Amino acid sequence: MLPFSQYDAAGRLRHLITLDGMSRDQILELLERSRHYLAPNGAMPIRTRALEGITIGNIFNEPSTRTRSSFELAGRRLGADVLNLEIQLSSRVKGETVIDTIQTLESMAVDVFVIRDAEPGVTQFVAENVYDHVSVLSAGEAHLSHPTQGLLDALTILQYKGGFRDLVVAVVGDVKHSRVARSAYQVFSALGVGELRIVAPDALMPNAGEMPQAARFSSIEEGIAHCDVVMMLRVQKERMTQASIPDSAEYHARWGLTKIRLGLARPDAIVMHPGPINREVEIASEVADGPRSVIREQVTNGVAVRMAILETVIGNRRLRGDHR
Ligand code: CP
Repeated sequence: MLPFSQYDAAGRLRHLITLDGMSRDQILELLERSRHYLAPNGAMPIRTRALEGITIGNIFNEPSTRTRSSFELAGRRLGADVLNLEIQLSSRVKGETVIDTIQTLESMAVDVFVIRDAEPGVTQFVAENVYDHVSVLSAGEAHLSHPTQGLLDALTILQYKGGFRDLVVAVVGDVKHSRVARSAYQVFSALGVGELRIVAPDALMPNAGEMPQAARFSSIEEGIAHCDVVMMLRVQKERMTQASIPDSAEYHARWGLTKIRLGLARPDAIVMHPGPINREVEIASEVADGPRSVIREQVTNGVAVRMAILETVIGNRRLRGDHR
């Protein structure tokens, strides 16, 4: 049996499980497609009928506001039918397996599964077990991967900075438990970011050997000095053992992005955060809501990126001639 690939025999994207191994050109093409779905300021969201007749199934086995809502809006704005399976109200709680659930929904003509799961490997496992015409898109896998977040982060940087090669980008906070950080590392490395830094307390630093192209900093002041982009991360209490949860006030005092600390970055530095935010823990409200914050633009860009991915995998399916 061939090893799993998220690409079809012609090398076109069929599933999106990871950004690992994706080339600069493939990423830039997805970002370019995403830009088509960004409405000018004040204009109505862009709508097409490109996915009319297609059905998207959102299966979120972890909480989500941004990713789930934006995949739903992305599908609807492309003219698709969108089904949101409430896992806690589904037959999964009666013991139905993941694959039985997927196959049940395949029988209702779901074409694209959007899956978030806390367990590593679930999205790939599903992708390996669906019909040939069906695509699987990761909406976040354990601490490992959040590919559409990585793409929307890259799109946001492109919008504000115009490129990647001359930038100093710092990813700050709970890097160890963060799927956002891992996808950011993959996409920023592929795009050739000038200097990539990971900045974290020792307990929240990924294992040695992970993210080898990033410089490591154990002080926020040193880590964000002269940066063009400061990407703050949420402290992921749900992925920590009780013993390693830092006290919130103490964490903010040592690691929070305050207005004073932001003064160490370049004067035109942008501040990013994937959300949800722990206000006054990893970031002060006056920074999160301040003039250098692009957090709300990241959310807007998330819809455009997810529209581009949906359009891409369905377009590639049409090129393959795969039908239900
Ligand atoms: N950034 C992100 O994945 O947010 P949600 O958990 O709200 O989807």
